[in-house]
Amino acid sequence: MTINTTAATQLETAPWVNEAWNQTVQKVLRTSARIGAEFPHASQGGQYVLEATHWWTAGFWPGLLWLLHEGEGNADLPFRRIAEECELKLDEVLDGYDRLDHDIGFMWTLTSVINYKQYGGELSKRRALKAANYLMGRFNLKGNFIRAWNPWSAGEDNSGWAIIDCAMNVPLLQWATKETGDVRYKQVAEAHMETVRNHFIRKDGSVRHIVRFDPQTGEVAEYIGGQGYGPESAWSRGTAWAVYGLTLAAKHAGSQELLDTAKQVSHFFLSQLPEDSVPVWDFRAPEETKALRDSSAGACAACGLLLLSELVPSAEAAGYRSAGERILRSLYENYGAFGQDEEEGLILHGTSHYPERKNMDVPLIYGDYFFVEGLARLRGDVTIPWE
Ligand code: GLY
Repeated sequence: MTINTTAATQLETAPWVNEAWNQTVQKVLRTSARIGAEFPHASQGGQYVLEATHWWTAGFWPGLLWLLHEGEGNADLPFRRIAEECELKLDEVLDGYDRLDHDIGFMWTLTSVINYKQYGGELSKRRALKAANYLMGRFNLKGNFIRAWNPWSAGEDNSGWAIIDCAMNVPLLQWATKETGDVRYKQVAEAHMETVRNHFIRKDGSVRHIVRFDPQTGEVAEYIGGQGYGPESAWSRGTAWAVYGLTLAAKHAGSQELLDTAKQVSHFFLSQLPEDSVPVWDFRAPEETKALRDSSAGACAACGLLLLSELVPSAEAAGYRSAGERILRSLYENYGAFGQDEEEGLILHGTSHYPERKNMDVPLIYGDYFFVEGLARLRGDVTIPWE
């Protein structure tokens, strides 16, 4: 079965979107003077903490800079230069191999793929294909899943672990098939997403974070709470990875089944939102922790909802688009740090890892990235790296 991808109708950009975009450009011009070609993750006390090159978030800052670079009409701003320096720095990780895991997709889609899409450089293409080949090497044939992390400590065997976040890594494989004509990349991407449909999405549309398979037989062994509250809870960022990842997968595969699942997860996500449309960190966390929001989950899901609005019949499109826009507008008006020059983050109140009590109630670089991608989608003038 196939879906009809309708061309996005050119809608007038709402004034708040252009205002938010312009404020973002001004703020990133200031923050990029300090951050430069480094790899921010979470902002603490107003400044982004910089991580090592192999950390999974390394692509988001250069990705955000690429969006601004293109959205500003390739103007003579420092964004492209810094993004390319970041891409170059990532070579030590790509050549190092042992620190690579499923997050290869996040890292090279937002650096080399986006650079190649905009400028067609051979070196960027080669880097992205190399990353895609590494990602292929993590596929488990019995369980039809891409392995998540490497062992965290000597002797640990986590070769049967798969995580929902990887739904956002497989677009790299779809890109590799488009680029090379080799269908194996696409086959692995689609097999992994079928496993997501079968084992990560519950009947009510809520989403598991980690499924442990027996790596020998491919049977499900255990559900693990991971960054959510517990195995049966509903971590909001994991739900957002599923909203966007399934929607992208539906578009790439032209699959009605994937589209239906993307809609099912989106309906669950939307049904759980509080009054201001920005999710709590886990929809099934104990009440006493629910003051903690995860703005990054809102930003990511909003991008998925905007894409979903382009894939569904026109009678359904407005609902998804207005839901995506509503979330982004609330992030801008209620969570934005635009009046605060002493804060480097764009969007406040993200939660990175509640179970480990890490980076709670802070700006997160992926929250900022998806906020900017969401604005770019609403403006309709930028290459989207994952598509
Ligand atoms: N593990 C990626 C995330 O924090 O969503």
